Amino acid sequence: MVRKSVIFPVLIIIIAVLLVITASQGRERFQYVGNAVCAECHGEEAIGNQMKIWLASPHARAFSRLSSKKAEEIAKKNCIADPASDKRCLKCHTTGEGQSPVTAKEGVGCEACHGPGSEYHRPNVHVDYENRENGYRRAVKAGMYPIRGIRALKLREKLCLSCHVKTRPCFPENGDHYKYMIPIQTVDNLQKGDVNFRHPLRR
Ligand code: HEC
Ligand code: HEC
Ligand code: HEC
Ligand code: HEC
Repeated sequence: MVRKSVIFPVLIIIIAVLLVITASQGRERFQYVGNAVCAECHGEEAIGNQMKIWLASPHARAFSRLSSKKAEEIAKKNCIADPASDKRCLKCHTTGEGQSPVTAKEGVGCEACHGPGSEYHRPNVHVDYENRENGYRRAVKAGMYPIRGIRALKLREKLCLSCHVKTRPCFPENGDHYKYMIPIQTVDNLQKGDVNFRHPLRR
């Protein structure tokens, strides 16, 4: 009887330790591979050339924006010497907060919104012509952010708001409302000024 009462708590501790270990491994399991890898397929007209649409969008300019006159002004106010290499700016102006050398200069790329692609980019993971939902499910298990569709609205909003926030150092001081009234709901319907970031899959 005495033995049993010892074994049980010990087992629980072992299980808890194992859970913590797997969780911390999970966090590092997926790495950024960069836009060029996605473009190998997503630059094809046959599936909709999402790459071309992205290239024409403001997110593709997000990194080079950090070398503009305006960026220099903003940086000066925040005592930042070089915005294009400073974490405090790269955090939102490139993929993976500038911490991966592969994506440090690409701007807000595919993986900034779809998640680090080291695992899911493989065709045998996220491509399934017979049953798209199966492919999607596998992809999400392999690191793709589940931001698709109407049911993912909340998560998508959270994603956009992780960068599109009032507290950013580059937020316009003169109450320029247009600048922060980002339509967070759907990329599908995204139409703001000249911005149209609809990038549907063609099958
Ligand atoms: C080897 C080719 C290939 C590569 C590389 C690739 N994809 Fe795909 N991807 C596809 C194809 C083909 C589909 C359509 C799958 C289908 O219709 O079932 C797709 C579908 C998707 C979807 C839609 C998933 C869904 O079902 O909603 C997303 C998002 C996506 N890819 C993002 C990416 C990103 C981001 C990368 C780079 C990290 C990438 N892909 C790399 C071929 C590729
Ligand atoms: C929390 C995320 C975040 C951080 C951190 C951030 N930015 Fe931005 N920045 C944005 C977003 C989002 C936009 C686009 C806003 C829009 O147009 O609606 C933007 C836009 C800009 C623009 C274009 C603004 C304009 O009015 O033309 C410049 C320049 C800029 N940022 C510079 C910087 C610099 C320099 C830093 C570092 C000191 C920085 N940003 C840090 C999110 C961020
Ligand atoms: C990793 C940070 C980040 C994420 C995530 C992000 N954005 Fe952005 N977004 C930016 C930055 C930075 C810019 C400014 C690019 C520039 O003009 O230099 C921008 C620009 C824009 C613009 C153009 C604004 C203008 O004034 O012309 C729109 C619209 C936009 N984003 C919508 C979205 C939506 C919708 C989402 C979510 C699905 C999203 N963004 C997610 C960083 C981000
Ligand atoms: C600013 C965030 C953002 C960026 C950057 C981005 N996407 Fe997306 N993408 C989304 C969102 C959000 C959806 C889901 C839209 C929906 O369900 O209405 C989506 C959907 C997709 C789909 C599925 C479209 C469909 O018809 O269902 C594919 C494929 C895709 N993205 C590929 C890419 C590729 C490739 C890149 C880089 C070239 C990229 N995306 C860059 C936010 C982004």
